[in-house]
Amino acid sequence: MPVLRRLLVSALLGLSFINSAVSLTPGFPYGSEKVRGVNLGGWLVLEPWITPSMFDKTGNSKIVDEWTFCQLQDHTTALNALQNHWNTWITEDDFADIASAGLNHVRLPIGYWAFDVGPGEPYIKGQLPYLQKAITWASNHNLKLIVDLHGAPGSQNGYDNSGHRIGFPTWHSNQTNIDRTNQIIKTIASMVADSPEVVPIIAPLNEPAGYDGDAVLSATRQYWLDSYGNIRYPYGSAKQSNTVELIHDAFQPLSYWNGFETGSNFQGVAMDTHIYQMFSDSQVAMSNQQHISQACSMGSSLSGFDLWTIVGEWTPASTDCAKYLNGRGVGSRYDGSYSGSSGVGSCTGKTGSASSFSSSYKTFLRQFWEAQVITYEKGEGWIQWTWKVEDADDWSYQAGLKNGWIPQDPTDYKYPNICN
Ligand SMILES: *[C@@H]1O[C@H](CO)[C@@H](O)[C@H](O)[C@H]1NC(C)=O
Repeated sequence: MPVLRRLLVSALLGLSFINSAVSLTPGFPYGSEKVRGVNLGGWLVLEPWITPSMFDKTGNSKIVDEWTFCQLQDHTTALNALQNHWNTWITEDDFADIASAGLNHVRLPIGYWAFDVGPGEPYIKGQLPYLQKAITWASNHNLKLIVDLHGAPGSQNGYDNSGHRIGFPTWHSNQTNIDRTNQIIKTIASMVADSPEVVPIIAPLNEPAGYDGDAVLSATRQYWLDSYGNIRYPYGSAKQSNTVELIHDAFQPLSYWNGFETGSNFQGVAMDTHIYQMFSDSQVAMSNQQHISQACSMGSSLSGFDLWTIVGEWTPASTDCAKYLNGRGVGSRYDGSYSGSSGVGSCTGKTGSASSFSSSYKTFLRQFWEAQVITYEKGEGWIQWTWKVEDADDWSYQAGLKNGWIPQDPTDYKYPNICN
């Protein structure tokens, strides 16, 4: 056990009595006000389905994630494309628009490679100045920013959105990967420790693949405990920050986490759960009413859980029709172009530009959006995935505002009884 870690652990244990008397003052009144926010997806971590044009422009169908984007093009080409994207995809105007849409949080995904590129890793650095800008812009517009580590060394889930699309994740099975990730959380925690009013929460790892079994889950549990120390004790002493740790459920039912990081030794822990209804054949086959009912049925588990529970990703989209959503070159279950799926119907008019959406589809998007918002506010609140998408308006908060299925004031319901 490294000396600093031993020091922190003994501080934690030794101070447990005092801890329960100390009151944490988070930068946002979690527990009394609802989180209402959007993710800034596809900015500092590329996702083929959010910006398909960046991938199509490469002319190379083997480029399927940020890893291959950097690996299979010459360095200057990749760097120029990334810098242009970082400079234009999200600007301060987006923060202004998000604030004027009545939202109070943004969650900002960032990859480990912004901090640490190891030997043999093709990633290109340069994202950190944009994280700094985003923190300034959040402050300028009175928004709370969640720093979300979305990709870890070895990949925690193998999804393209972890930076590296691979068959089986290797983050959890390699202690070097985990050690590097802990180091990054320490760096982030000390960066933001003195500005909890702008960065009240750190999410130390997005979506570890808990469904892969016990090895992932036990690595994840230990990592949440270590991250608690790193986030809540960033000063190398017994002095605590006011920064909250946002752990993810690792795709387990909330009940799996009952009692985890609760009690007087723990303060300032929140749970992130992600709710999607399009990543299986049976989900895409559901009727509009079934989608709404399923959303409404989540209320009691969210309100009954013992940590502040935020639905940190969700969407009014109900199909997997968006181009590259399942990966570049992979089709969709909804229209049967995904290998092994039988298909439900045509994707035409379900995604792409809102100008192709029927008025009844837009009414459904509004109803499904409201059903989810109403339900997720039975917990601690919600953060929609995502603010902006190139060519999938069903997923875009910005497009929802513009086309009317998302209200300018997120408490202005048209269907307040949708879940009754
Ligand atoms: C573990 O991961 C590190 C990178 O974080 C890598 O250099 C090393 O080769 C990996 N070890 C094994 C056994 O795969």
